[in-house]
Amino acid sequence: MDTLATAKTRYATKAYDAEKKIPHAQFEKLLEILRFSPSSVNIQPWHFIVAETDAAKQRIAAGLTGNYIYNSAKVLYSSHTIIFCTRTDISAEYLEQLLQQDELNGRFKDETAKQGQRDTRQGYVEFYRNELKNLPAWMENQTYLALGQLLFAAGLEGIDATPMEGFDRDLINQEFDLAEKGLKASVIVSLGYRSETDFNAKLPKSRLTDDVIFTRL
Ligand SMILES: Cc1cc2nc3c(=O)[nH]c(=O)nc-3n(C[C@H](O)[C@H](O)[C@H](O)COP(=O)(O)O)c2cc1C
Repeated sequence: MDTLATAKTRYATKAYDAEKKIPHAQFEKLLEILRFSPSSVNIQPWHFIVAETDAAKQRIAAGLTGNYIYNSAKVLYSSHTIIFCTRTDISAEYLEQLLQQDELNGRFKDETAKQGQRDTRQGYVEFYRNELKNLPAWMENQTYLALGQLLFAAGLEGIDATPMEGFDRDLINQEFDLAEKGLKASVIVSLGYRSETDFNAKLPKSRLTDDVIFTRL
């Protein structure tokens, strides 16, 4: 689909048809698109928990109780649901792991280039940690870039999606032992195909107008 048409027709799906599943190869393509998301200094501070089976989706839905119950059926009836997690910290070991990956992928022509990348990336992390004092927010910003990329890609692929911040963070973090893994849940995305009963599919989109959101110099 054309990019503008995709931006205008993709929407936050409120009800899924549980009978319809995303073909395996197409879902794997979406995961690969997630893996290729851009991030500041290629810090990639994310981890994605992927649920396809009913049992896995039920584990996620267990974190959608109380105030968040309105999101439960979206997860249960989706084809796939992904928990977008963000690291709680950036360790020296993780920075070294990234650097090794860069090297494996052929990014460095010599040791000087490698050291340059090491210094730049570490410099940014220390800047956000010690000066701006918002390393967690900076990391989570990167995770949300991956969210945007996935939502748009799903639209292009003709797959419906729902980003969800409406979930119990404590319950989800506990269910998947995220703290022990140095992670926290940031946002959940359900993917699949809309149900005919989805009221939101028929509503017009609403956005602020051009003159409000753009300053053209
Ligand atoms: C980060 C984020 C969190 C959201 N959380 C929820 C949610 O918990 N439940 C829900 O039904 N919709 C959720 N939405 C959907 C938004 O309400 C929706 O994207 C917005 O109203 C714009 O409408 P559209 O996506 O249909 O164009 C969320 C969207 C974003 C981007």
